[in-house]
Amino acid sequence: MSKPLVSIIMGSSNDWEVMSQAAQQLKDFGVAYDARVISAHRAPDLLLEYIKEISEQGVQCFIAGAGAAAHLAGVIASKTTLPVLAVPIPSKYLKGMDSLLSTVQMPKGIPVATFAIGEAGAANAGLFAISMLALHDTQLAQRLTEYRKKQAVSIAETVLPELP
Ligand code: RP5
Repeated sequence: MSKPLVSIIMGSSNDWEVMSQAAQQLKDFGVAYDARVISAHRAPDLLLEYIKEISEQGVQCFIAGAGAAAHLAGVIASKTTLPVLAVPIPSKYLKGMDSLLSTVQMPKGIPVATFAIGEAGAANAGLFAISMLALHDTQLAQRLTEYRKKQAVSIAETVLPELP
Protein backbone atom coordinates (compact mmCIF):
# COMPACT_ATOMS: atom_id res chain seq x y z
CA MET A 1 0.00 0.00 0.00
CA SER A 2 1.35 3.43 -0.88
CA LYS A 3 1.35 6.15 1.75
CA PRO A 4 -1.97 7.98 2.09
CA LEU A 5 -2.12 11.42 0.49
CA VAL A 6 -5.57 12.23 1.88
CA SER A 7 -6.97 11.58 5.33
CA ILE A 8 -10.73 11.15 5.65
CA ILE A 9 -12.05 11.50 9.20
CA MET A 10 -15.69 11.21 10.26
CA GLY A 11 -17.38 11.62 13.60
CA SER A 12 -19.38 8.38 13.54
CA SER A 13 -19.55 5.13 11.61
CA ASN A 14 -23.05 6.32 10.66
CA ASP A 15 -21.34 9.02 8.53
CA TRP A 16 -19.63 6.44 6.30
CA GLU A 17 -22.58 6.07 3.93
CA VAL A 18 -22.04 9.72 2.95
CA MET A 19 -18.26 9.90 3.38
CA SER A 20 -17.66 6.77 1.30
CA GLN A 21 -18.48 9.01 -1.69
CA ALA A 22 -15.28 10.96 -1.03
CA ALA A 23 -13.32 7.74 -0.66
CA GLN A 24 -14.81 6.39 -3.89
CA GLN A 25 -13.63 9.42 -5.88
CA LEU A 26 -10.11 9.05 -4.50
CA LYS A 27 -10.12 5.33 -5.25
CA ASP A 28 -11.38 5.93 -8.81
CA PHE A 29 -8.47 8.32 -9.41
CA GLY A 30 -5.93 6.01 -7.79
CA VAL A 31 -5.22 8.36 -4.87
CA ALA A 32 -4.22 6.58 -1.65
CA TYR A 33 -6.25 7.60 1.39
CA ASP A 34 -6.73 6.68 5.01
CA ALA A 35 -10.30 6.70 6.38
CA ARG A 36 -11.08 6.75 10.12
CA VAL A 37 -13.94 7.26 12.54
CA ILE A 38 -12.71 9.64 15.26
CA SER A 39 -15.15 11.93 16.99
CA ALA A 40 -13.85 15.34 18.12
CA HIS A 41 -15.96 15.22 21.29
CA ARG A 42 -16.09 11.49 22.00
CA ALA A 43 -12.37 10.82 21.46
CA PRO A 44 -10.53 14.18 21.42
CA ASP A 45 -7.14 12.82 22.56
CA LEU A 46 -7.19 10.10 19.89
CA LEU A 47 -8.05 12.72 17.26
CA LEU A 48 -5.06 14.89 18.14
CA GLU A 49 -2.73 11.88 18.19
CA TYR A 50 -4.01 10.72 14.81
CA ILE A 51 -3.66 14.16 13.17
CA LYS A 52 0.00 14.27 14.27
CA GLU A 53 0.71 10.70 13.19
CA ILE A 54 -0.93 10.90 9.75
CA SER A 55 0.61 14.31 9.05
CA GLU A 56 4.06 12.82 9.69
CA GLN A 57 3.23 10.15 7.10
CA GLY A 58 2.87 12.88 4.48
CA VAL A 59 -0.85 13.44 3.90
CA GLN A 60 -1.55 16.56 1.87
CA CYS A 61 -5.03 17.39 3.13
CA PHE A 62 -7.88 16.27 5.38
CA ILE A 63 -11.51 15.63 4.51
CA ALA A 64 -13.73 15.82 7.60
CA GLY A 65 -17.36 14.72 7.78
CA ALA A 66 -19.50 15.43 10.82
CA GLY A 67 -23.12 16.00 11.69
CA ALA A 68 -25.18 18.10 14.15
CA ALA A 69 -22.92 20.37 16.29
CA ALA A 70 -20.17 19.62 13.79
CA HIS A 71 -16.87 20.85 15.21
CA LEU A 72 -14.67 18.06 13.79
CA ALA A 73 -13.30 20.01 10.81
CA GLY A 74 -12.57 23.08 12.94
CA VAL A 75 -10.70 21.04 15.53
CA ILE A 76 -8.61 19.35 12.82
CA ALA A 77 -7.86 22.76 11.26
CA SER A 78 -6.76 24.05 14.67
CA LYS A 79 -4.04 21.38 14.80
CA THR A 80 -2.68 21.50 11.25
CA THR A 81 -1.87 24.01 8.53
CA LEU A 82 -2.78 21.45 5.85
CA PRO A 83 -6.03 22.21 3.97
CA VAL A 84 -9.17 20.89 5.69
CA LEU A 85 -12.18 20.17 3.46
CA ALA A 86 -15.43 19.70 5.35
CA VAL A 87 -18.59 17.78 4.57
CA PRO A 88 -21.71 18.57 6.61
CA ILE A 89 -23.49 15.28 7.30
CA PRO A 90 -27.32 15.20 7.07
CA SER A 91 -28.65 15.06 10.63
CA LYS A 92 -31.83 13.46 11.98
CA TYR A 93 -33.77 16.51 13.14
CA LEU A 94 -32.37 19.49 11.22
CA LYS A 95 -31.46 17.64 8.01
CA GLY A 96 -27.87 18.85 8.05
CA MET A 97 -28.57 22.58 8.36
CA ASP A 98 -27.04 22.40 11.84
CA SER A 99 -23.99 20.57 10.44
CA LEU A 100 -23.65 23.08 7.59
CA LEU A 101 -23.87 26.20 9.74
CA SER A 102 -21.59 24.91 12.49
CA THR A 103 -19.00 23.91 9.89
CA VAL A 104 -19.15 26.86 7.51
CA GLN A 105 -19.16 29.61 10.15
CA MET A 106 -15.53 29.24 11.22
CA PRO A 107 -14.26 32.38 12.92
CA LYS A 108 -11.47 34.28 11.15
CA GLY A 109 -7.99 32.78 11.36
CA ILE A 110 -8.58 29.02 11.14
CA PRO A 111 -10.13 28.27 7.74
CA VAL A 112 -12.17 25.23 6.76
CA ALA A 113 -13.39 24.77 3.16
CA THR A 114 -17.00 23.63 3.49
CA PHE A 115 -18.80 21.62 0.80
CA ALA A 116 -22.48 20.83 0.22
CA ILE A 117 -24.50 18.79 2.72
CA GLY A 118 -24.42 15.05 2.05
CA GLU A 119 -23.27 12.81 -0.81
CA ALA A 120 -22.64 15.56 -3.38
CA GLY A 121 -20.51 17.44 -0.87
CA ALA A 122 -18.53 14.32 -0.02
CA ALA A 123 -17.91 13.45 -3.68
CA ASN A 124 -16.92 17.05 -4.43
CA ALA A 125 -14.58 17.16 -1.45
CA GLY A 126 -12.87 14.09 -2.91
CA LEU A 127 -12.68 15.73 -6.34
CA PHE A 128 -11.37 18.96 -4.82
CA ALA A 129 -8.62 17.05 -3.00
CA ILE A 130 -7.72 15.48 -6.35
CA SER A 131 -7.58 18.96 -7.94
CA MET A 132 -5.14 20.10 -5.28
CA LEU A 133 -2.93 17.04 -5.69
CA ALA A 134 -3.08 17.47 -9.48
CA LEU A 135 -1.26 20.81 -9.14
CA HIS A 136 1.93 18.76 -8.70
CA ASP A 137 0.98 15.61 -10.59
CA THR A 138 0.53 15.93 -14.36
CA GLN A 139 -0.91 12.40 -14.80
CA LEU A 140 -3.56 13.08 -12.19
CA ALA A 141 -4.34 16.42 -13.86
CA GLN A 142 -4.79 14.58 -17.16
CA ARG A 143 -7.20 12.08 -15.56
CA LEU A 144 -9.19 14.95 -14.08
CA THR A 145 -9.45 16.60 -17.50
CA GLU A 146 -10.70 13.29 -18.99
CA TYR A 147 -13.26 12.96 -16.19
CA ARG A 148 -14.61 16.44 -16.96
CA LYS A 149 -14.72 15.66 -20.70
CA LYS A 150 -16.75 12.49 -20.02
CA GLN A 151 -19.29 14.52 -18.03
CA ALA A 152 -19.61 17.04 -20.86
CA VAL A 153 -20.11 14.24 -23.43
CA SER A 154 -22.73 12.59 -21.24
CA ILE A 155 -24.67 15.88 -21.00
CA ALA A 156 -24.35 16.52 -24.73
CA GLU A 157 -25.65 13.01 -25.53
CA THR A 158 -28.64 13.24 -23.19
CA VAL A 159 -31.90 12.63 -25.05
CA LEU A 160 -35.17 13.43 -23.30
CA PRO A 161 -37.99 10.85 -23.60
CA GLU A 162 -40.83 11.53 -26.04
CA LEU A 163 -44.09 12.71 -24.49
CA PRO A 164 -46.90 10.12 -24.66
C1 RP5 B 1 -21.44 13.54 15.03
O1 RP5 B 1 -22.68 13.30 15.56
C2 RP5 B 1 -21.24 12.53 13.93
O2 RP5 B 1 -20.49 13.10 12.91
C3 RP5 B 1 -22.62 12.14 13.50
O3 RP5 B 1 -22.96 12.70 12.24
C4 RP5 B 1 -23.52 12.71 14.60
C5 RP5 B 1 -24.34 11.64 15.24
O4 RP5 B 1 -23.50 10.59 15.66
P1 RP5 B 1 -24.12 9.15 15.98
O5 RP5 B 1 -24.97 9.35 17.19
O6 RP5 B 1 -24.92 8.75 14.76
O7 RP5 B 1 -22.94 8.24 16.22
O8 RP5 B 1 -20.44 13.43 15.97
